[in-house]
Amino acid sequence: MLSQELNDTLTRVGPGSEAGAVLRRYWQPAALLDELEGNRPVVPVRLMGEDLVLFRDSEGKLGLIGRHCPHRGADLCFGRLEDNGLRCPFHGWHFNRDGQCVEQPGEPEGSKMHEQIRAISYPVEERNGIVFAYMGPGEPPAFPRFDCFRAPRSHVFAFKGLWECNWLQAMEVGIDPAHASFLHRFLQDEDPKESYGKQFRDAAAGTDIPMTRLLREYPRPEITVEETDYGMRLIALRHMEDGRTHVRVTNQIFPEAISIPMSREMIITQWHVPVDDETCYWYSMFTSFGGPVDKDKMRQQRLKEHRLPDYAPIKNKANNYGYSAEEQGRLTYTGMGLDINVHDQWACESMGRIQDRTQEHLGKTDVAIIRYRRMLRAAIAAVKEGDDAALPMHGDVDPARIHGPISNDTITDTGNWEDSFAAGDAQRRAACKDWDAAIPA
Ligand code: FES
Ligand SMILES: [Fe+2]
Repeated sequence: MLSQELNDTLTRVGPGSEAGAVLRRYWQPAALLDELEGNRPVVPVRLMGEDLVLFRDSEGKLGLIGRHCPHRGADLCFGRLEDNGLRCPFHGWHFNRDGQCVEQPGEPEGSKMHEQIRAISYPVEERNGIVFAYMGPGEPPAFPRFDCFRAPRSHVFAFKGLWECNWLQAMEVGIDPAHASFLHRFLQDEDPKESYGKQFRDAAAGTDIPMTRLLREYPRPEITVEETDYGMRLIALRHMEDGRTHVRVTNQIFPEAISIPMSREMIITQWHVPVDDETCYWYSMFTSFGGPVDKDKMRQQRLKEHRLPDYAPIKNKANNYGYSAEEQGRLTYTGMGLDINVHDQWACESMGRIQDRTQEHLGKTDVAIIRYRRMLRAAIAAVKEGDDAALPMHGDVDPARIHGPISNDTITDTGNWEDSFAAGDAQRRAACKDWDAAIPA
């Protein structure tokens, strides 16, 4: 349970906010590369309460600048994409990708006023299908050597979805290993061969036990949390009747991403990015250790569930998330269909736009949530004191030396889960022939 004041501090991320100052010290997903496809690569972006416009200029380079024209505030999303920049349709002021005004065609001949005019602008970098923005002070940090950034473009698929709630409650679902046994429970198991591109539908590692059955039959995981240089590692142990233990290793990547196993072949790295205090996007990178990702299939699966251009889910609060009491009795725990994203979306959105944490009661299985909030509070305090070096992946820690993180499911029969999950992961990485997935010692 938190005080109202602390709940506000941890959840609010607009300009000038304390948690926002922490998030601004990390690269944030701003758009999918897919959104810039087509004849007019201009995309409105709302990120941490700031309205921006992302565009590709005639040199093929990306710019992310303030959405409202510095002249009198007209919307640059309707700008004319020409002359290697974006030109405001109101009076023709012209901006380059750095936000510099380079021309004011209606001002007197020879006027130098434009040299003093600059739109807000933020550095952007594209990585494997996602355009990342850095909205913090100083030079942007290096990208960590996470698998999703190391793998070639062919082995990573990126997608996103809009949720109508605060980013923190969305992220907290990702560090809650207990919910998978309930929220995502399937009362019947599907053939794991039908599982491509879906989470929790493969067989558990080294077994023919569908993950759905394992999660259903062992609902009381023993959860431990370790702080790491990138955030934290979560270990969920499910002790099985036959003496073996299922080990699921997932990660919190500070400040608002997670990395989790999806199947034996793929892992998911997912950011919960604030649009503003009451809305967020999940951005996922699906990274394959096996062959190239079947991007068309994965995109089609997800486009069936989302509406463009804003990637809003078709099942949502307005249609009760497709809830069916009949299905709830027969097939799924939620009655909301087989897509587990909808289950998570319902869980997060049904808390209210910003969860009222003055009324919550955390249990033993919420250990990672408790630990994460402590980390965020420590980061807020560090930024306030001007000690950015104390933040995860800042200071002495060179992000370029951070690999992995290891996310996998393993079964151990020796009881020595540390060795088993490390060995299972090393095997998968050694077998990855298309790219170098090895983690240097
Ligand atoms: S408002 Fe944009 S040029 Fe005048
Ligand atoms: Fe979930």
